[in-house]
Amino acid sequence: MPGGVVGLVATADTGRIEAPVTLKAYLMCAFAAFGGILFGYDSGYISGVLGMDYIITLYTGLNPNDPRFAKNGSDPNGFALPSWQKSLIVSILSAGTFFGALMAGDIADFTGRRTTIILGCLVFIIGVCLQTGSHSYGLLVAGRLVAGFGIGFVSAIIILYMSEIAPKKVRGAIVSGYQFCITIGILLASCVDYGTQNYTTTASYRIPIGIQMLWAIILATGLFLLPESPRYFVKRGKIDRAADVLGRLRGQPRDSEFVQTELAEIVANHEYELQIIPQGSYFTSWANCFKGSLFVQKSNLRRTILGTSLQMMQQWTGINFIFYFGTTFFQQLGTISNPFLINLVTALVNVCSTPISFYTIERFGRRTLLVWGALGMVICEFIVAIAGTVDGGNPTTVKAEIAFICIYIFFFASTWGPGAWVVIGEIYPLPIRSRGVALSAASNWLWNCIIAVITPYMVDTDKGNLGAKVFFVWGGLCVACFVYSYFLIPETKGLSLEQVDRMMEETTPRTSAKWVPHSTFAAEMGLTDKGTLAPEIVADVERKGSVV
Ligand code: BGC
Repeated sequence: MPGGVVGLVATADTGRIEAPVTLKAYLMCAFAAFGGILFGYDSGYISGVLGMDYIITLYTGLNPNDPRFAKNGSDPNGFALPSWQKSLIVSILSAGTFFGALMAGDIADFTGRRTTIILGCLVFIIGVCLQTGSHSYGLLVAGRLVAGFGIGFVSAIIILYMSEIAPKKVRGAIVSGYQFCITIGILLASCVDYGTQNYTTTASYRIPIGIQMLWAIILATGLFLLPESPRYFVKRGKIDRAADVLGRLRGQPRDSEFVQTELAEIVANHEYELQIIPQGSYFTSWANCFKGSLFVQKSNLRRTILGTSLQMMQQWTGINFIFYFGTTFFQQLGTISNPFLINLVTALVNVCSTPISFYTIERFGRRTLLVWGALGMVICEFIVAIAGTVDGGNPTTVKAEIAFICIYIFFFASTWGPGAWVVIGEIYPLPIRSRGVALSAASNWLWNCIIAVITPYMVDTDKGNLGAKVFFVWGGLCVACFVYSYFLIPETKGLSLEQVDRMMEETTPRTSAKWVPHSTFAAEMGLTDKGTLAPEIVADVERKGSVV
């Protein structure tokens, strides 16, 4: 074994378990955030495309002068595409992403995090080619399903990859960068749709759909050049390769004491976890995600429920009501006539507010952001609901409602948007991490889809016709988010992923913020007199990893 990894230098000093990092290394870790563009753009472009004259004529055969011809948004009461077609085109993507995310966890453990994301980009490109080449409804739907699989891979595994490679002090900020890219993707989609909406050729939809290939090519090429996650190699028992990539990620020689110490801690923690959760067959390792008591913070079951419910709650905030149905809603309010302008304003508030979290998520912590963010959203949502119910016909009230919706987006974008993704990357121990993150991402897509399907029934004028009252529903759900985050979200800021594991063992969510690391896994599992990790631990992790 080259490089002498067996004699991994280890430490009992909790402050020294991570190597210092160079700027280049920070930038390498941040690059993967680019994957958010795929996520955001793909969920954002479709509403504009469905409203294009060209597409409506293509799918319905209606002439734009036909009275039954109504563009999405320009007439809240009419739409030339039948609802079931519209709903299938929109929701099929979430269905694909749901299954894609579920499968991705397995693939990421088998072939590696980086390889899974690259594979996701390839699948996505195939789906985009089908959609771009489509000249009929069926092929567009099939293409979105395939592209959805690809996005499922990317959205689940990017979080895993970024959380595993990022330095602990900036892990929250770096993963928030992913959310920032999601918001940029949504904004780009509005702009491209706007640019091509009046084209009278297939270019009207082929350009916004086809352009996405570019994002996938950039992401796949960049990742091809980046190192694999060292934690993946530890899981597979390839400690030597883990040392190589960790050295590259931290901008240090692989045998530097810092790199060795950080690696020793990852190895010792993994050995500790393997003793508690023995690995077995394929089914046993899935079953491991659901082991333990719901009332013990550290148990796998509790963590899996925490991750999946956190993503569910993120959708419960109602944010996609604005991004999927905002145009029609604002028009029903009655004072704004330009749907693009509305899309643009909400997308811009979303983009501009997200970077605030780069600082606050590390300064105040994940828990604080989620608790206060939920409270901020609750207040805004109830103001919108009450104002709209009491005085909805008054143009000044409508303006105030729009302002509070923007403030609500500000709260989401700076807290729950990034926070939910950051936390799911941090709470799982290595043996179940890839599946736990994948399940959580799948939950996001599942709820995303459920909300997309049921919302029209609440607000359509011929159905529930709730109008501004729909914000009572979102406000009520946000109260649940507030209570949930106060009682259940632990504070993970500033800790290594291995320290998070220990913190969850020793605290409750409400006491977690005060917890400070007091020992290292390396010290507990076994240090030799020479200050190295006991060789039998390294050998055991290598042996177990090779049979996974
Ligand atoms: C959510 C998406 C949402 C987006 C808005 C993401 O964190 O998961 O569903 O559309 O934020 O910025």
